[in-house]
Amino acid sequence: MLIDLESSFKNLKSSLSQLYIVGAPRSERFAKVRHRVPMLSLANSFSREDVADFESRIRSFLGLGMGEIVMLTAEPKIDGLSLSLRYERGGLVQAATRGDGEEGEDVTVNARTIADIPHRLTGDVPAVFEVRGEAYLGHADFAALNARQREAGDKEFANPRNAAAGSLRQLDAAITASRPLRFFAYAWGDVERLPDDTQFGIVQAFKAWGLPVNPLMTRCASVDELLAHYARIEAMRASLGYDIDGVVYKVDRIDWQQRLGFVGRAPRWATAHKFPAEKATTLVEAIDIQVGRTGALTPVAKLRPVTVGGVVVSNATLHNADEIARLDVRIGDTVVVQRAGDVIPQVVEVVMAQRPASAGPYAFPHACPCDLHTPVVKETTAAGIESVVRRCTGEFACPYQRIEHLKHFCSRRAFDIEGLGDKQIAFFFEKGLIREPGDIFTLAKRDAAPGNLQRIQNYEGFGETSTANLFAAIEARRTIQLERLIFALGIRHVGETTAKMLARNYGTWAVFDAAAMRVAAGDAESAAEMDAIDQIGETVIEAIRSYFAEDHNRAIVDRLAAQLTIIDAEQAAKDSPVAGKTVVFTGSLEKMTRDEAKAMAERLGAKVAGSVSKKTDLVVAGPGAGSKLKAASDLGIEVIDEDGWLRLVAP
Ligand code: IVH
Repeated sequence: MLIDLESSFKNLKSSLSQLYIVGAPRSERFAKVRHRVPMLSLANSFSREDVADFESRIRSFLGLGMGEIVMLTAEPKIDGLSLSLRYERGGLVQAATRGDGEEGEDVTVNARTIADIPHRLTGDVPAVFEVRGEAYLGHADFAALNARQREAGDKEFANPRNAAAGSLRQLDAAITASRPLRFFAYAWGDVERLPDDTQFGIVQAFKAWGLPVNPLMTRCASVDELLAHYARIEAMRASLGYDIDGVVYKVDRIDWQQRLGFVGRAPRWATAHKFPAEKATTLVEAIDIQVGRTGALTPVAKLRPVTVGGVVVSNATLHNADEIARLDVRIGDTVVVQRAGDVIPQVVEVVMAQRPASAGPYAFPHACPCDLHTPVVKETTAAGIESVVRRCTGEFACPYQRIEHLKHFCSRRAFDIEGLGDKQIAFFFEKGLIREPGDIFTLAKRDAAPGNLQRIQNYEGFGETSTANLFAAIEARRTIQLERLIFALGIRHVGETTAKMLARNYGTWAVFDAAAMRVAAGDAESAAEMDAIDQIGETVIEAIRSYFAEDHNRAIVDRLAAQLTIIDAEQAAKDSPVAGKTVVFTGSLEKMTRDEAKAMAERLGAKVAGSVSKKTDLVVAGPGAGSKLKAASDLGIEVIDEDGWLRLVAP
C-alpha cells in the first residue's frame, strides 16, 4: 500500500525535495514553565469604526447608559516579545516567555542580564506579583547588533523583534547580556493583590516599584480622545527609537475588566488599534496553488523578494479565485503588497500601467495540483450560496491534505512536537515513514526494528543525537490533554475554543468518542446534547458527523488513540455550585446584562441553554418571565431570581 502511494506521488516527491534541508530538531533547551494565569492575546481594531464598536460593545455588555463615562487607557503596542516576571517578596524569582500562552520557557538567567529588569522591587509590593510586559530592542542597538553580526560573518536579523527573541532565547546568558534588551511593564499575571483598582493606577505603582513603564500611556474619556492619542503616537512613531505596531486600549476600571472577562484567548476589555499595513511594490513571478488541510485551494503569488516594513516578503496570498478575478492579477504583473503585523502578506492592487503585453488572464485550475489530479469543486452552503473556496475532493487520498493534516497535528496548539516541524513532516511523509498521526508514535519502534536497513539517523540532516531528541520529544507527547487531541484531529470548524468546550463537556476521550460516533450514526438525542454545549451549533455538529461517519477517518483516529494516554479534561471550575449545570436565564435582568450573566455562568463551569428542557438544572427568572418560567414549573425545575443567582455564585 505504501509503495503504491509512493509511486503515485512522483511529482510531489520532486516538489518536496526542495524542502529537504532538514534542520536538527529543536532541542528541549529551556525548562517549561506553566503560567499560573494564561498569557493572552489582544483582539485587533483597524479603523475608527472598529474602535467605536469596541467601546459600544463594552457599554452594552455592562449595560451602561450613554451618560456614563467609560475611562480607557491608551498606550503604544510594543513590537517585541512578551515576558512574565515573577516577584516573590519583592525579589525576581522567575522569568518566562509567553510560549503558547499556557506554557512558556524559563529564561530567568537571561532576563537577569537585562538592565531594565530590576532584581528587586522597592516599596509596598505584594508578596507575590507577576509583572508582564514586552522585551524589545531599540533601533540603534538593533543596527549596532547587526553590524557586529555582519563583521563576525554571522547571520543578520530581519527586524528588532526577531533580534530580541533570538537574544533572549540564548542558552549562553553571556550572549543575552551582550545585547542591550529593554523592557516595558504593562500587565500582570498571578498576583496576591493589586496595588490599585484601575489599570492606570497599577501601572503607576509599577513605576513606583522601580519597573520601566511606557511614558506615552494616558487615560481617555471617549473614543475621540482615544483616536486623538492614537494620532499623536502615530506621528511620533518614527522618532520613538523602538518598534511599535499600534496603540492598545484597555478599560481602566479593574472591576469592569473582571466583569467583561474574555472571549476565547482575548480580553473583552482591551483591543489593539493597529497602524495601517506597510506596502511595497514588486513583481509576480508565478502563481502557485497551495492545498490546505481541508482541501481548500489557495492561490499564492510568488514574488520577487521585497522588503515590507523590515521583513523580506516573497509570497503573498491571493485568497481565492474570486480575489484573483477581482484584482485581475496575472503572472508578470507588478503589484502592491502589504503586510500588517503577523498577518500573511497580501496583494492589494495591480499596477496596470506596468503590465507586460504578454501577460494573459490567470486560469484557475480545475484539478488539484497533486498527482491524483482530483477534481476541484465549489461548495454550496445549506442556504444555497456558492462558496468562493474551491476544494480538492480527494480528502485523505490527496497527499497535500494529508501533509497539511499532519502539520496541523504537530503544530504548537495541537501536539506541539518539538523537532517535527513542517519540513520534517514533509520529509517523513515522502519517505513513507509517517503517513498519518498514529505513525508518529510508532516511528521509534519501527526505526529500531531488526532488519530496518534505513535508520533515520543515517539520513542527511539527522544524526544520532537529533534522532534521539526527536524520539524523546514524541514520547513526551504520547500523554496528551483531551482538548489538544480533539483540536489536533483537524475536524473542520473545530478550533481550539470549540475543542476545549467539547473536552470540558465530555470529560474523557471515551465519552467524547462515543458521543461523536452516536452523532455520526444519526442519533438525534446525542446531537441535541452536543448542541446544548455553549458555542457549538449545527455547523460544528455537522462537521463532527461527517468526520466520524467516514470509515477512513475513523480508522485513523482509532490507530492514533491506541498509541496515546489521554488526560481527562479539567472539569471547568469544579468547586463552583453551578459547575456542570445547565442554566437558563429568562425575563429581564436588572443588575447585569444577559451577555454578562451568560459569560459569568460559563466562567463558573455552567452551560447556558436558550430553552428549558428536562436537561435544565436551574432557571434564573427576572420580571416578565413567561413561557420558560411555566415550562420550568411544569418540569419541576428549580427557579431562582437574579439576586438568588448572585448570592449563589458570590465568591
Ligand atoms: S496587554 C490581556 N499591552 O501584544 C492583555 N500587550 O497582541 C495582555 N503587547 O501578547 C496584553 N504592547 O506581547 C498589552 N501595551 C501593551 C502591549 C502588549 C505589546 C503585546 C503582548 C501581547 C500581544 C497581543
